[in-house]
Order: sequence, then structure tokens, then C-alpha cells
Amino acid sequence: MKDLNYKNKSLNFSKLDIEDVANKHKTPFFLYSEEILSHNYTSFYNGAKDSGLIDPLICFALKSNPNKELIKILAKLGSGADIVSGGELKRALEAGIPANKIVFSGVGKTEEEIIFALKLPGKGINSFNVESLEELELINACAKKLKKIARICFRLNPVVRPKTHKHISTGNKTHKFGLLEKEVLMNLGKSAYWSHSQLVGLSVHIGSQLLDLKATKKAVQRLCEVGLKTQAPLEFLDVGGGLGVDYHPDETKKLPSIDTYMKLIASTLDKHFYKKTDLRPRVVFEPGRRIVAKAGIFVMKVLRNKVSEDNHFVIVDGGMNDFMRPSLYDAFHDIIPVKESKAKHECHIVGPICETTDCFGSNRLLPALKSGDLLILKDTGAYGYSMGSNYNLRGRPLELLIDTKKKLRVINKAQDYLDLT
Ligand code: LLP
Repeated sequence: MKDLNYKNKSLNFSKLDIEDVANKHKTPFFLYSEEILSHNYTSFYNGAKDSGLIDPLICFALKSNPNKELIKILAKLGSGADIVSGGELKRALEAGIPANKIVFSGVGKTEEEIIFALKLPGKGINSFNVESLEELELINACAKKLKKIARICFRLNPVVRPKTHKHISTGNKTHKFGLLEKEVLMNLGKSAYWSHSQLVGLSVHIGSQLLDLKATKKAVQRLCEVGLKTQAPLEFLDVGGGLGVDYHPDETKKLPSIDTYMKLIASTLDKHFYKKTDLRPRVVFEPGRRIVAKAGIFVMKVLRNKVSEDNHFVIVDGGMNDFMRPSLYDAFHDIIPVKESKAKHECHIVGPICETTDCFGSNRLLPALKSGDLLILKDTGAYGYSMGSNYNLRGRPLELLIDTKKKLRVINKAQDYLDLT
């Protein structure tokens, strides 16, 4: 990350000295950069435009980071939202994302959430991305009661196998997501589904942290083929999210650039859809990680060292309740010291939670560390705070933003464990 560099042996993030920040605010905390966030969004959008895609709509996946101040920044840049709950719908609207730029995904939308979305003024949300026929029946029935027309997008399960961690793979029939082609095509006429609903789009989302785009290409091709077979006047084709980032240095050479990704999407749509019809649906994207992962770091303090024969544990004040990815997926996140030093010792960086899996990194080479020293966990802007919890009755950490004027702002206060009820 070029936005992370040492100046006078002290680590800076987005041009601010991290130690200065930690002198003013209690660790652990998430620190985000408006500049990186805006840059990532803008490059994604411009990449789509430059590859010739018509009127692309970028619906940021709120689940990756729903912080209201971050969403406000994205909303101002023109972003839409991919949401999966009533809570995320409320957050997106409050942050200024217009309803007509919101896609509502998820297999378990409740009646209450569906009604919330349907009651929004005008045509309401861009689409309900429907994941089952029972869901469609319920949406149609709700729309009928409210005298509305629900805008429906079928989420297609394209039956592909992307190369990624099995816990974040979603595009096969063994997964609970999406509808198979035959279910989509056989149910385009039934009145229980369509009296108050209209098919306006088709979507796919095959998984997350994708670095190899073979399955993405296949999925987009399937999206086009099924889209044409519906013979519906589709307003959009939604290619989902999933584009990965390089958490590990080995991933850097595999990392598809935005340009490569967009060219692949554009050429696949061109060949399998636009060349075969006069319809010109816009393209919707649902990225989360690629926009926000690198816009955030997690700053923590060393509490103490502990040596068990040849195992050297460095115990820090951040835990798996604050950042779950290493313990949940065995995910790699780089850990670096805030004070630059060449000396290296092998150690395990562990948190205070009473679980063996509460370990941010094993056998890492770091300088000798003592109580009070600062460490950062890199690339924690996505699926960090949003997946955190109060496990072990710990308060949730602070979230801070470095704005474009290098000013530091609290964008979510820390919870004090004494206030937990
Ligand atoms: N669209 C849908 C329908 C999704 O389910 C997801 C992510 C996205 C878009 C955004 O995917 P992204 O561009 O962020 O890869 N907690 C896991 C990731 C779970 C992803 C869930 N769905 C992790 O930390 O790796």
C-alpha cells in the first residue's frame, strides 16, 4: 500500500503519523482514509466507463463496511448500494443514497423488510434481487396489498466454481444463493408471482475475494444467455461484486487490475448479449472489498510478551471480536510495527479473547516489541468492523477517518465495556 510508509522511522497512513493519532485516541481503533476510499470508488467507476459500459451503476456492498460517514462519501460520489437487510436499507438512505440506486439482495428478506422497501416513495428501490420463488410470491403479495409494482431482478445461480475460500463461494447449486436457470425461465408467467411485480433485471454474484476471473467470465456469459432467453425488456444486468485485493504479497502478481476486470465484463457482455439484441440494459456492479479493504487499517497496542519455550507470543489489545477474518477464514493480513526497525524475531500476534483462534498472525517476523508499542493490521477496511462483536463482553472499537484535508474525525465512538448492558 503506497499510502502506508515510514517517515523518520514512524509509520504514516494517508499522510498522517499513526503514533500521533494513537497518542490522542485509545487503541485499538480502525483508521480509514477518505482519499483512498474516494480513489478506489472513482477508479472503479471510471474503469467501467472507459471500457465502454453504458451508464454503469456501482452499488457498494454495505456489508463490507456500513459506517455512515463512509457511505456518505460514496453517496456524494454517485454510488448506489447493495443491501441485505432492513438495517442496511435504512443506513443507505440515511447516508444519502437514493432509493433508485439500491439493490436488495439476500435469501432471507422478511415481510417487514420487504414492506419497508416497497413503501418508499415513487418507484422505490432499483430492485429486489430475488433468491427464491417463495420470496417472489411474498414480494408480489405485499406489493398487491400496498398497491405498488415491485421491481424484480432474478439472482441467477450460474453453477460455477470460483477459486476462492469455500466459505465465501456462492455460485453453485450446493449454495443457498440464487435461482437455477430453469426456475427462472419456467416461472415468468405465473400471476401469483407477477400481478404486482415486474422483471427489470438479472444478477449473478458468485463469491468474494476473486483473483482468478475464469469463473466470473463464465457466470457473466450465463447471465447473458439466460437474460436473452427471458425475452424480457431488461433494464439492467447486475454482475455482482467479488473482485479481490492483494492481502498477501504473493497475491499482488495475480491481482486483476480494474482495467482487466472491466474489459472482461465489457467484452463478455458485448459478445453474448449486446451483439444479439437491440436491448441496451445498463450494467450494475456490487463491489465491497475492492472499494474499502485498502482504505482502512486496524491499530493496536502491545500489552505484553509471553514465551512458552520456543513459542513467542506478543499479546495485543485488539482481538478476534474486533477483526474476525484471520480466525474465521485463516485469512492473511500483514502486521507491521509503527516504529520502523530492521531487527526481526519470529512471534505469534495474539489477542485477549479466550479462544486459540484469536491469533492475527503466526510465525511473523517483527522487531522485538514491548508493552505500549504499536502495531497495525493492514487492509482491514472491508469485513472488519462490520463483522465485529461484543464477544467476551468487550466494547466495540473506535472508528476514525482521515479526511481529504488530513483532518482526523471520529466517525464512530468506541463502546465502553462499563456501558454494556
Ligand atoms: N453482492 C452480494 C450479493 C454479496 O453477497 C456480496 C458479498 C457482495 C456483493 C460483495 O462482495 P465483495 O465485492 O465484497 O467481495 N466476510 C467475508 C466476505 C463475505 C462476502 C459476502 N457477500 C470476508 O471477510 O472475506
